[in-house]
Amino acid sequence: MSKVRNLAVLTSGGDSPGMNACVRSVVRAALYHDIKPFGVYEGFNGLLNNKLQELTYHDVSNILNHGGTILGTARCPEFREKEGRDKAYANLKAQDIDALIIIGGDGSYRGAQALAEENDIKVIGIPGTIDNDINGTEYTIGFDTACNTIIENIDRIRDTAASHNRIFLVEVMGNNSGILALNTAAASGAEEVFMPEKSEDLLEIKTKISRAIAANKSSIIIVAEGDQIGGAKEMYNYLKEYGLVDKVRVSILGHLQRGGSPSFLDRLYAALFGELAVVELLKGNADLMVGVINGRVSTCSLDLARETSPPKNMDYLKLIRKLSIY
Ligand code: F6P
Repeated sequence: MSKVRNLAVLTSGGDSPGMNACVRSVVRAALYHDIKPFGVYEGFNGLLNNKLQELTYHDVSNILNHGGTILGTARCPEFREKEGRDKAYANLKAQDIDALIIIGGDGSYRGAQALAEENDIKVIGIPGTIDNDINGTEYTIGFDTACNTIIENIDRIRDTAASHNRIFLVEVMGNNSGILALNTAAASGAEEVFMPEKSEDLLEIKTKISRAIAANKSSIIIVAEGDQIGGAKEMYNYLKEYGLVDKVRVSILGHLQRGGSPSFLDRLYAALFGELAVVELLKGNADLMVGVINGRVSTCSLDLARETSPPKNMDYLKLIRKLSIY
């Protein structure tokens, strides 16, 4: 078992609050264990284009409170091809780097695993996405901050909704996953939630909105961007056909959900995940994802993490219904 001498860390996929705190943790833990850390700029693109730089202790000072990622992130279709991965490997080897830590979503792990299978590079994944939809882990860095941001914005919407007795369709992120929608609906007192995992009867949506209009009270309805109808705007257009939009307004929260200073929870998990990833490499382990497994910070195989996970708390639907007028 050869000791890891130099490692590289990159952020990939959609950025999420806490990624910087995690980069800091990886760099500082590596230095503590006498491993030389390198940062890769712009995700896998940076690996291909040799945008690697050694990171010092002070390079990661005062970054943990900032959202986004100082390393940058990008989608990189070239990395799906072996030719692209060969280029990446050559750049890693030129710096004598023998391990790679990827902070990002499950899509980011596929290319990295292929790189590890083809070459002598050890790979560890750290789940970072606001969606919290990675199989194998109960938590992904960024989720808590995004939920807090959504809740704060719903509070603002509620002020105006209540003043006018209006029904707001609030669209939250989640193209393939309703986890953000479901959790924030339960926590914000929303009357209803629409999400990709729940098939909708169009008539039922119409009936529910009609009932809310008849009640002449304000309502908050959370719609995941990837719900079966295709988001809040589509739902509005559908209701318009029936003349039901007089009291209905749409608010699409969009990318503001991805920004902002990370919450306590995101900073804590970022620190724990980053350090554990380095420790696992020190032990000679690889092909793993660090995460929260059965309530504990631990590891699972990267293979497990390559599938998207469905919402864990579908029971929240019952709660939302029980507490609403619908
Ligand atoms: O995966 C995180 C996420 O924020 C999803 O919720 C959303 O659908 C997607 O990224 C948006 O991606 P982009 O920033 O490329 O538009």
